[in-house]
Amino acid sequence: MELKDTGEDIARVLYTKDDIDRRLALMGAQISRDYAGKDLLLVGVLKGAIMVMADLSRKISVPLKMDWMAVSSYGASTKSSGVVRILKDLNEDVKDKNVLIVEDILDSGLTLTWLKSNLEARGAASVRIAAMLRKPEAVKADIVPEYIGYDIPNEFVVGYGLDYAEHYRHLDFIGTLAPHVYGG
Ligand code: IMP
Ligand code: MG
Repeated sequence: MELKDTGEDIARVLYTKDDIDRRLALMGAQISRDYAGKDLLLVGVLKGAIMVMADLSRKISVPLKMDWMAVSSYGASTKSSGVVRILKDLNEDVKDKNVLIVEDILDSGLTLTWLKSNLEARGAASVRIAAMLRKPEAVKADIVPEYIGYDIPNEFVVGYGLDYAEHYRHLDFIGTLAPHVYGG
């Protein structure tokens, strides 16, 4: 779905499809250099990472496997609590594998902090993070993604896998929502 199809729902486009493609090409090249000769397993976090996983993986020129996890934060709060429940676990054994977690966005960073230590505890040889976007709060957290697309302001964004109430994941760009969408 393109901008022209979204009516008045989008307030501002942050990154176009071409911006994203160019950024992912650089990230993929870096990852290909770093993992040359290593056993690479990409772990995508459902559902937000599906677009990043599909496009980033195709920019990587070394052999790899792909697997998926689905997690959810415990508690009713809209803020991430840091306590995570596994909704869908990996099929692959990560023992002695070089794991690269692929995520859409780091907000508080709590989900990824938990996921990283969970995969390390299973005996992965290494666990790194590739995230398309990072918000300011995650910059303060002590989790540092090795591969990062863009640092963005503290605004709610949608598109390219990111949703608002499960909508807008299929936008081919990343943008902010107009206030009327929230009922504002
Ligand atoms: P945290 O880093 O543990 O706070 O949580 C990150 C998760 O919150 C992401 O994987 C997204 O699913 C969701 N999230 C955070 N910020 C946004 C946003 O601006 N738009 C859509 N989803 C978001
Ligand atoms: Mg997510």
